[in-house]
Amino acid sequence: MPKYRNSLRVVNKKKISRRRFVALVGWGAVAGVGGMLGAAMLGYLYPNALKIPPSIFSIGRPEDVLTSEGRVFIPKQKTFVEVSRGKVRCMTAICTHLGCTVNSVETGFKCPCHGSTYDIDGRNTGGPAPSPLIYYRVYRGAAGDLLVDKSQVIQVPREAWYTPTV
Ligand code: FES
Repeated sequence: MPKYRNSLRVVNKKKISRRRFVALVGWGAVAGVGGMLGAAMLGYLYPNALKIPPSIFSIGRPEDVLTSEGRVFIPKQKTFVEVSRGKVRCMTAICTHLGCTVNSVETGFKCPCHGSTYDIDGRNTGGPAPSPLIYYRVYRGAAGDLLVDKSQVIQVPREAWYTPTV
């Protein structure tokens, strides 16, 4: 049999049978579904704990943090960092009623969910909130950054201030 059938030099390719074609499509579908199930199971087995932010986080170098007086909200950590006269403190933004994120207002803090209000030190002054907003310990880490430890709670607002030495 000649290698070329006509002048267009079309190679006589080996034909695939219908049965083999259907089998290949079937195995391809099985492999695709298996891959999707495997990816879903890996996602299920992956621990969610690693996605939660660590309890200790950095708010930056003291010389940078102390230059901006006032209150700054850190959305990822749901905390407010407050700087005043060379001191810094960090307070939760989680409402003590049902856990909504409070907003900073002129008089202190206000919860948008059920209207709880807090004064500038986080003491509950109105609405259904049963207790004040808590503070977290701020300290200087070994690398020199200011660190906030959310596992160390401070209840008294004036004790939450930290004075870093620059
Ligand atoms: S969650 Fe803040 S007042 Fe209800």
